[in-house]
Amino acid sequence: MTISFAKDISLLFTDRDAHCMGGMGVHLREYDYMANPTGDAIFPDYANARHVLARLNGTETPRMPPGGTPWTDDQIALFESWMTQWLP
Ligand code: HEM
Repeated sequence: MTISFAKDISLLFTDRDAHCMGGMGVHLREYDYMANPTGDAIFPDYANARHVLARLNGTETPRMPPGGTPWTDDQIALFESWMTQWLP
């Protein structure tokens, strides 16, 4: 199954998510940010998306979105599948 960031993933983030996190430099709805292959001290590659995933599933805390509805297992699985394809 082919998963598109624009069609399948970006709309899972609410206006509130995008607004809160954009102010912190985390651009949840922007493909170029989310598919950036650069790593950091924790993840050797794709650190931006991997930190987002860790906040969605609670591997990194506090789990996101704070005070909002957590993503369902299916939504998180879809995001993980997108992270094997990195398609716009
Ligand atoms: C699904 C939606 C969201 C995702 C995937 C997400 C993702 C993230 C990520 C990756 C970080 C770590 C940033 C870093 O270390 O530089 C973070 C931290 C943070 N986010 Fe979000 N965020 C979401 C929604 C929100 C919303 C709606 C708010 C505001 C109400 C928010 C407020 C914060 C705050 C205050 C932190 C810093 C928490 C801490 O580490 O002490 N986030 N988020």
